[in-house]
Amino acid sequence: MTERIVLAYSGGLDTSVAIGWIGEATGAEVIAVAVDVGQGGESLETIRQRALGCGAVEAYVADASDEFANEYCMPTLKANGLYQGHYPLVSAISRPVIVKHLVKAAREFGATTVAHGCTGKGNDQVRFEVGIQTLGPDLKCIAPVRDLALTRDKAIAFAEEKGLPIETTKKNPYSIDQNVWGRAVETGYLEDIWNAPTKDIYDYTATPEFPPAPDEVTISFEAGVPVAIDGVKVTPLQAIKELNRRAGAQGVGRIDVVEDRLVGIKSREIYEAPGAMALITAHKHLEDITVEREQARFKATVGQRWSELVYDGQWFSPLKRSLEAFIEDTQKYVSGDIRMTLHGGQAIVNGRRSDTSLYDFNLATYDTGDTFDQSQAKGFIELWGMSAKVASGRDIRVAGQ
Ligand code: ARG
Repeated sequence: MTERIVLAYSGGLDTSVAIGWIGEATGAEVIAVAVDVGQGGESLETIRQRALGCGAVEAYVADASDEFANEYCMPTLKANGLYQGHYPLVSAISRPVIVKHLVKAAREFGATTVAHGCTGKGNDQVRFEVGIQTLGPDLKCIAPVRDLALTRDKAIAFAEEKGLPIETTKKNPYSIDQNVWGRAVETGYLEDIWNAPTKDIYDYTATPEFPPAPDEVTISFEAGVPVAIDGVKVTPLQAIKELNRRAGAQGVGRIDVVEDRLVGIKSREIYEAPGAMALITAHKHLEDITVEREQARFKATVGQRWSELVYDGQWFSPLKRSLEAFIEDTQKYVSGDIRMTLHGGQAIVNGRRSDTSLYDFNLATYDTGDTFDQSQAKGFIELWGMSAKVASGRDIRVAGQ
């Protein structure tokens, strides 16, 4: 029986050419798998037909948009997941869900190998292959760009020579990856890190310099997850989409960073994640009133470690799972409403309320009704500073000897 290979298919030039390229290099039949993670753009049926037109023996489309929002974006929100404090893990969280569907398709179609379109320089090859090793340890991996010398020039020549139903002339100097959680743009002119991004690279966000009138939004959460916007019930996917639209119109969530890749390279990337950044901001502010101080401080460290693991392709690792058990426990009381104003590139919280809040007006107030006994502060400070005071006395004694 002819060997079968499942290919992660985007519909773009590289993976379209990869279908025939893999076929010629290995003699295997190629099954194209496109996964909908809310990336928008062309219809998945158009993409499916293109795969067949490029020689795939089967083309399979998986609608994973709700699954992605519920099981990948929501854990990222609960963790306030920002790699290096900036990047909301847009591409990093999409790879594991794509892997899940690739492995499922490999089983269904009797494939022995999974292929992806990544280069040998990035994080995504690691995320795909570590995921495949974990979910389908018997499956092999192949990356035509990395392993079968499929360069851009060769891809264009191949597509033209074979008359593949794909455009080869459209000049896009950027490498783009997008899904409902955000959009990542790199390469070309952006590789000079002094160059400011030009307007043409943005798609999810409008220019914040000329914003429309301020947009006030109320987001309601239950146990760390958005459940309503302005009082209208939403699913996680609807919440992200609605905020992509409203925060995007105000230019919220543009990020320009040089980040540390797992493979040791520093690389510049432009992100747009209006919905994700608005949600993370709101969620963090709700945590500020509902999570106890020590738990909150520790959670920030846990969230950072969680983000590093996810960035580094360890979605299926036991440590990540254990950290999630902690994060989940912290979310029990993260319920309530956050009101914020979206305007001119910023999402600014200006009101919060929660039935499970730890904010005690009578403890906090400087007005009448104060229940805080200030006389106890003096003794507390004495003991709090004791240890450092004793050490300081020792330092002075030793220095004087
Ligand atoms: N740097 C991001 C990450 O490693 C995004 C990678 C994909 N970016 C792209 N423009 N194709 O998660």
